Amino acid sequence: MKVLVFNCSPRMDKGNTALILKPFLEGLKEAKAEVELFYIKKLKINPCQACFSCWFETPGKCFQKDDMQMLYPKLCQADIWVFATPIYVDSMTAMMKNLIERMIPSSQPFFNLRDGHCRHIARKGGKYTKVVLVSNCGFWEIDNFKPLLVHMKAFCRNLGVEFAGALLRPHGEALRPMMEIGMPVNDIFEAAKRAGYQLIKNDKMSPRTLKLVSRELLPLEMYIQHANQRFQQRLHTLEKK
Ligand SMILES: Cc1cc2nc3c(=O)[nH]c(=O)nc-3n(C[C@H](O)[C@H](O)[C@H](O)COP(=O)(O)O)c2cc1C
Repeated sequence: MKVLVFNCSPRMDKGNTALILKPFLEGLKEAKAEVELFYIKKLKINPCQACFSCWFETPGKCFQKDDMQMLYPKLCQADIWVFATPIYVDSMTAMMKNLIERMIPSSQPFFNLRDGHCRHIARKGGKYTKVVLVSNCGFWEIDNFKPLLVHMKAFCRNLGVEFAGALLRPHGEALRPMMEIGMPVNDIFEAAKRAGYQLIKNDKMSPRTLKLVSRELLPLEMYIQHANQRFQQRLHTLEKK
């Protein structure tokens, strides 16, 4: 099993997204998957130019000579794509959106009717692919992931790939400080690891495991209070400078 992973957080390995992604990848590796991780911030990926040369002039190939040329064959060969992103303004980061817009060469211009809906026809040659989303957000509630989930599912339907599920970490900003003061949060990392292992060994992640990744870390009112205290402290430090 080949797994292609995109960490689309500008904080890369220092971010809260990486806190969940890391054990998930450990689980994949423990189940003997071949994992390749890319930090999108480190790659040169230009925006799509909407020239449609990848459809009508060089079918399946984008003319732009940037790091997508290195990623295209990997995307075709991978069995699983993992997209990891924090929530930015209710959705994915701009760098992840930029990446998925550049995936247009993997579809053909032709329309067909799939599940009663107008879609593009996938270009042949790619393997059957599963997609996993790993995300975290600053607000407390799990419903903050709703717009991103709708978007990811639509993206998968359009590309003719399977949405295999999501590891979602609401009030993700609390995870690192709680870990650093030794509060019991290991069950979350263990669940993320188990999800990776299950995906390879059982072909799917159990809803119970995914629910554990998202479990409440602290009550809403307490989270708001702690967060506001931290913001206040940072502003005080600034005033003293
Ligand atoms: C530009 C920007 C927009 C954000 N928008 C949201 C948002 O709409 N909802 C939310 O819950 N958190 C939002 N956040 C908070 C991030 O999701 C949160 O800080 C997350 O833990 C960052 O993950 P990272 O450390 O992997 O980058 C936003 C953060 C930034 C920088």
